[in-house]
Amino acid sequence: MSLEKPTFSIITCSDTRDMSRDTAGAALESLIAEQGWECVSHVVVKDEAPQISAAIVEACDTLDCDVVLTCGGSGLSLRDVTPEATQAVCERNVPGIAEAMRAHSMAITPFAMLSRALCMQRGRHLVINLPGSEKAARENWEGIVAALPHAIKMMAGGGH
Ligand code: MTE
Repeated sequence: MSLEKPTFSIITCSDTRDMSRDTAGAALESLIAEQGWECVSHVVVKDEAPQISAAIVEACDTLDCDVVLTCGGSGLSLRDVTPEATQAVCERNVPGIAEAMRAHSMAITPFAMLSRALCMQRGRHLVINLPGSEKAARENWEGIVAALPHAIKMMAGGGH
């Protein structure tokens, strides 16, 4: 954890993608770098809740990332289990961030209401569910990026 240079992990959740085809994850890596922040890990896991939960725990507890971005698996398909996998290993809901993503996205597409994305805290780590298409991931990031430095500062024990 570093207040100067926040650290991120990306976990792409997909039955069909591998690293070479993970354009959404690659776009998120670039967006993180554009802010001067650091992406310390990027993995692709299947749409299986135990695998997704384990990757979140690893990113928080072992890699000590400030923010974990999951990518995909937050829709209505029965294979979409990312929110449940997030909830299983996090304690506190941060509904405003998920609400902000959907509000920002609703101005772009009504399909934004089909997102079941959560944002939750595991200790002083923030886990944010982003959608899996590159376009949607970029748009959701755009809706929340401005608030992330303050969120990280508060989780580290800083006041306002
Ligand atoms: N948000 C934005 N900004 N743009 C989009 O195209 N797609 C929606 C929604 N949020 C979308 C979006 C759709 S169609 C779905 S199903 C949900 O995100 C969840 O996506 P996921 O299953 O890839 O996680």
